[in-house]
Amino acid sequence: MGQSTNTRTMKTILVTGSRGQIGSDLVVALRKRYGATQVIASDRQAMPYTGAKLFAYEILDVRDSQGLQDLIERYDIGTIYHLAGILSAKGEGNPQLCWDVNVNGLFNVLEAAKFYQLQVFWPSSIAVFGSDTPKFNTPQTTIKDPSTMYGITKLTGELFCNYYAHRFGVDVRSLRLPGIISYSTPPGGGTTDFAVEIFYQAIKDGSYTCFVRPETRLPMMYMSDAIKAILELMQAEPAAITVRSSYNIAAVSFSAAELVAEIQKHLPEFTCRYQPDFRQAIADSWPSVIDDSQARADWGWRHSYDLPAIVADMLEHLSPQVGRDTEVLAKK
Ligand code: SER
Repeated sequence: MGQSTNTRTMKTILVTGSRGQIGSDLVVALRKRYGATQVIASDRQAMPYTGAKLFAYEILDVRDSQGLQDLIERYDIGTIYHLAGILSAKGEGNPQLCWDVNVNGLFNVLEAAKFYQLQVFWPSSIAVFGSDTPKFNTPQTTIKDPSTMYGITKLTGELFCNYYAHRFGVDVRSLRLPGIISYSTPPGGGTTDFAVEIFYQAIKDGSYTCFVRPETRLPMMYMSDAIKAILELMQAEPAAITVRSSYNIAAVSFSAAELVAEIQKHLPEFTCRYQPDFRQAIADSWPSVIDDSQARADWGWRHSYDLPAIVADMLEHLSPQVGRDTEVLAKK
């Protein structure tokens, strides 16, 4: 399947959707690993001017295939981490746009990967599963009947990836990511966002109104585990990758009530009330616990953060940050 991973990493890396929840952390990790000038960050909007000297940043709408090709040629790109996409809850607000960005964006990236012989990472999601999928220990290969446009675009994308890998030899690799918990950037319109929002509200207000019921149990992962998984998957020998659609990947599964209880160990005064909205039905259609034994066997996946470690680390990093933001607001 084309060049080896080592040869590719000599070339430049392009990250689409670099200002999103995963992109913000992945760009930092890639620059640390491969060198700051080797990683070109891109997103739809201009970067706000911070006064600091910025590393390469380009405006790119992934639906613009010519714009994408221009960047690939200008920077001699060898690998694309294609993160640009619209998440599940936001996608229900504009399903047409969700299809356009998620499906046509990926199509443009895969076409370019075929032509320029690029390696590609693309995130799929637990949203490819649906109500008829087994909820516990969801197997790698099982029923996929997504109920959201987001899930439909991710399932379509998985079929694209598998097709481009087998039909054209494109080295595309993918993970079915669960809800990702992180502190650098707020999440942008997912059903699992409650598991991040709750930390901001716990620190700022001491209370949170959760949009899913307390017993709602979903697969989740801490950002540093997600970054580790992406980097390790991309570095694995091509022969080790037996799944070219997308790998099941898991770390922890917990209910909203268990998350609240863990936060209360640090902030005993914290209270949570529950007011489910349309996102409840989306959450109910997704699995609770994922079987990721294929990823563990093929390329050695192991997660590090369990629920207590995630909560402790989130509070440690967010408390000073949210405290500062609150002070700024109070002064206004
Ligand atoms: N975190 C995503 C979402 O909630 C799932 O892939 O949309």
